[in-house]
Amino acid sequence: MSETTSQSASQVSLFRNWISLTGLIVALASLLAFALLFLFDTLAHFSNPYMGVMIYMVTPTFLVLGVLVGIGGVLLERRGLRRVAAGEKQAFLLIDLSRPRHRRILGGFVVAALFFFLFTAFASYQAYHFTESVQFCGHACHMVMKPELTTYEHSPHARVACTSCHIGSGATWFVRSKLSGAYQVYAVLANKYPRPVPTPIKNLRPAQETCEQCHWPKAFVGNLDRVYAHFLTDASNTPYTVRLSLKVGGADPSHGPVGGIHWHMNVANKIEYIAADKERQTIPWVRATDSQSVVTEFRSTGFTNDPSQYVIRRMDCMDCHNRPAHKYGKPDSVVDLAIALGRIDRAIPSVKSNAVAVLLQSYPTQQRAMEGIATQLIGQYPNDPRIRLVIDIVQQIYRDNMFPEMKASWRNYPDNIGHKDWYGCFRCHDGEHKTADKKNSIKANDCNACHLILAQGRGAELQKLTPEGQPFAHPGGDIGEMKCHDCHFGGLVQ
Ligand code: HEC
Ligand code: HEC
Ligand code: HEC
Ligand code: HEC
Ligand code: HEC
Ligand code: HEC
Repeated sequence: MSETTSQSASQVSLFRNWISLTGLIVALASLLAFALLFLFDTLAHFSNPYMGVMIYMVTPTFLVLGVLVGIGGVLLERRGLRRVAAGEKQAFLLIDLSRPRHRRILGGFVVAALFFFLFTAFASYQAYHFTESVQFCGHACHMVMKPELTTYEHSPHARVACTSCHIGSGATWFVRSKLSGAYQVYAVLANKYPRPVPTPIKNLRPAQETCEQCHWPKAFVGNLDRVYAHFLTDASNTPYTVRLSLKVGGADPSHGPVGGIHWHMNVANKIEYIAADKERQTIPWVRATDSQSVVTEFRSTGFTNDPSQYVIRRMDCMDCHNRPAHKYGKPDSVVDLAIALGRIDRAIPSVKSNAVAVLLQSYPTQQRAMEGIATQLIGQYPNDPRIRLVIDIVQQIYRDNMFPEMKASWRNYPDNIGHKDWYGCFRCHDGEHKTADKKNSIKANDCNACHLILAQGRGAELQKLTPEGQPFAHPGGDIGEMKCHDCHFGGLVQ
């Protein structure tokens, strides 16, 4: 009996040493940091995956470290005690409160520990703000996120936090994002991430809970007037402009007529589809349910499978607006824009086609692209001093839109709005998606279904607007049954 008491007393006193005390303070501080970070993250309106790394990986590491130091102190102390027993020397680690010096040191320890706790609380708060910032999402994984950050900074959403679209608020998405965020950080550290980062992002939160926080269905009504300025690939870079009235329309009857392009997202209408590929570019089956609950099923020719074998996805904003924040400019349209703005001098013969040609090539690295662009353009215009500025601008265009190290460019990331360079709307509106009786197909051949051409051409031709629309006078001649994307893909397909 007396033996066990003395044993447990010595066990307690084993913890009474400076090393174990330090370990204890570190462990307590990590617990405090854990609690605080957890609290901030739960109370915050938006949360983000990187906090998960702090909360579930960094603070526990320190906790374990603290405990290990504590145990280390005990082991050392025990060895010391044995030596004392063997009469070697004194137990130097032991805290003996009967000694005034030890009491003074302990006092100092307590004050230092208090400061340490305060500092931990402050640092947790700062860490929380930092991981929430755009700076962290984009810059911390600089190489991996460079394409997304660069395109984001040039997008209309440049001031919307990454987390507003990628995570949103609420408890379940909070937990999911924590877990996937922790994995992402591991993937980056272990160099295991895929290049390019695959899209569509699996389990991206439904648009109703992200996009519609800012763009609610009542906010749309009427048409949108858009001007597309192009330059042909001839020697004089002839302008060719199309002015469209896009029938964006509305989606909420309490605000205005329902119809047009945003008819798809009217809460009463439901469009579901099956995608045959991961990128959702081939859509063989579509089902529309309108406000009267009338269901219409459309299939593309050749698709006879049972739809219930597939994942059926409900269409939302992201099926059309998949690039609201990361639009990878296509060579022809970015060069068109630079010429239209006067940044590239239109008077330089064939500058459009030559600039597009150097951008259409594949380069292994950004550095090689810079060199390739410069040498080729100098080669084409050896005696033209104006070409220096063109080279600067084309290089800038490349840096802003093409990222060979991450394999991120218009080639890998289709933009589903429109139909010129990707199938986009024509994934369904191609005239080949028909009902079982073949009587109806999803609107396709009617070029006025989605927009009216108000004006096209150049100079005086652009002064007269036709509110009833006009047929497209394609500068590349008659296209017959072909789809735009068969010939156009960031430039003309060779
Ligand atoms: C306006 C909403 C929005 C904002 C803001 C936003 N994103 Fe995105 N992001 C998207 C959408 C939509 C996709 C495409 C999803 C899909 O196709 O499934 C995407 C795709 C991505 C991808 C996948 C690769 C790619 O290029 O498509 C990454 C990585 C990404 N975003 C990172 C970021 C980072 C980092 C930020 C902040 C600097 C950010 N996003 C800000 C909406 C947004
Ligand atoms: C935090 C608010 C916010 C969120 C979330 C948000 N946006 Fe936006 N969005 C804006 C603002 C601000 C603009 C620029 C002003 C405007 O046109 O209304 C904009 C502009 C746009 C435009 C017009 C772009 C153009 O070229 O004129 C589209 C399309 C768009 N957003 C789609 C989306 C989609 C799709 C999502 C979800 C992935 C989304 N937005 C999420 C605030 C937001
Ligand atoms: C058979 C191939 C082919 C098809 C299909 C085709 N185009 Fe073209 N397109 C051309 C050619 C060739 C030019 C002339 C290029 C030049 O001189 O710059 C051109 C030029 C254009 C231009 C002006 C210059 C430019 O490059 O932007 C526009 C806009 C355009 N096409 C839109 C369309 C649209 C929209 C469709 C689908 C409705 C379409 N094209 C289908 C071959 C095609
Ligand atoms: C069927 C495809 C489709 C769907 C689904 C869709 N949009 Fe659009 N939206 C368009 C097109 C096409 C335009 C015309 C502008 C353009 O071409 O960029 C547009 C325009 C917009 C604009 C710009 C309006 C303006 O006045 O500048 C915003 C913002 C927008 N959409 C947000 C959304 C949001 C949010 C959702 C989901 C609730 C959504 N869209 C669903 C195709 C779609
Ligand atoms: C997943 C398939 C799918 C995609 C992708 C799609 N649509 Fe549709 N769309 C439909 C279906 C289904 C209908 C209703 C059937 C019908 O009336 O032909 C429809 C109807 C429409 C209508 C007629 C609405 C009305 O007032 O009756 C317009 C306009 C339209 N879509 C524009 C677009 C545009 C623009 C895009 C590309 C940005 C697009 N759609 C992409 C499936 C799709
Ligand atoms: C399902 C809806 C839909 C149908 C049908 C449709 N378009 Fe379009 N079209 C669009 C949208 C949306 C855009 C705008 C794309 C953008 O903002 O980038 C567009 C853009 C265009 C442009 C301007 C492209 C540019 O870059 O200059 C032309 C030209 C055009 N369409 C011609 C046609 C012709 C010709 C037809 C008939 C064969 C047709 N469209 C049928 C939805 C449609």
